[in-house]
Amino acid sequence: MDAVTGFDSVGAAYAAHSDSARGRLRHDLVERRLLAELPATPARILDVGCGNGEMTLRLAAAGHQVTGGDPSARMLAAAAGRLEARPELADRVRLVDARLDSLPFEGELFDAVCCHGVLMYLDEPDTAVARLAGLVAPGGLLSILAKNRRSIGAREALAGDYQAARRLIVSGADRSIGNLGRETRGDDPDALDRLAAEHGLIPQPWQGVRIFNDHFDDTWAPDPAAYAAALELEWAASSRSPYRDMGHLVHTLARRPERSRS
Ligand SMILES: C[S@@+](CC[C@H](N)C(=O)[O-])C[C@H]1O[C@@H](n2cnc3c(N)ncnc32)[C@H](O)[C@@H]1O
Repeated sequence: MDAVTGFDSVGAAYAAHSDSARGRLRHDLVERRLLAELPATPARILDVGCGNGEMTLRLAAAGHQVTGGDPSARMLAAAAGRLEARPELADRVRLVDARLDSLPFEGELFDAVCCHGVLMYLDEPDTAVARLAGLVAPGGLLSILAKNRRSIGAREALAGDYQAARRLIVSGADRSIGNLGRETRGDDPDALDRLAAEHGLIPQPWQGVRIFNDHFDDTWAPDPAAYAAALELEWAASSRSPYRDMGHLVHTLARRPERSRS
């Protein structure tokens, strides 16, 4: 199944996962870090592979001007439907048909370029990072959420599938079956940082995302107090080794230096 057309058929499954407590945990952690790094004033943000618009809408609700791009007509339609239900955000969100290898933003730069949950479906992270980095304005941020290659096998082990876990760990696998039942590829956070640096960006500390709560399935439904406690635990561990290395996902950030004044 090709990464792009595949999402036309798994749109509903992705929406269900994204809305589950596990999905929310990831969005809440990523949003918290992004809001801490973004300027307080409205920033121009590009969300590549925006899916059903979860982060696009969250960042717009925080006051930013957000362009969400996705090649899947179904995902874009879902994002548009969610935007329609939030008319107060209409003038802060633009949704466009865009895929990484043909981004229609000639001459445009953004204060933040996000690409969350996309690299795992692509075989060539270096080309992807080069394209994304090229759209980051001076002083701006590149935010990538990828599957963590370092922790492949941990989910299976904690869920009790010891044979699958052992196979993945012993073979040093760089891919495993993801949330939607498809094989997805992992990236090493240091390798992503190196790629960003090759394009003139300065890597910022990366975080591990979903360390202790990844092996539950989407029916995990903690009560609000338990969810809040899980979120704070994940946040505390996300920036500390060795815990962060075990996150199912890694959130890397890199900043382009401001233009020097001459
Ligand atoms: C797992 S979803 C992530 C959606 C959203 N970024 C999030 O974090 O909730 C992956 C998205 O990447 C999109 N996608 C797949 N291949 C792509 C490509 N080559 N360029 C841009 N987006 C792509 C899919 O259509 C899908 O909406």
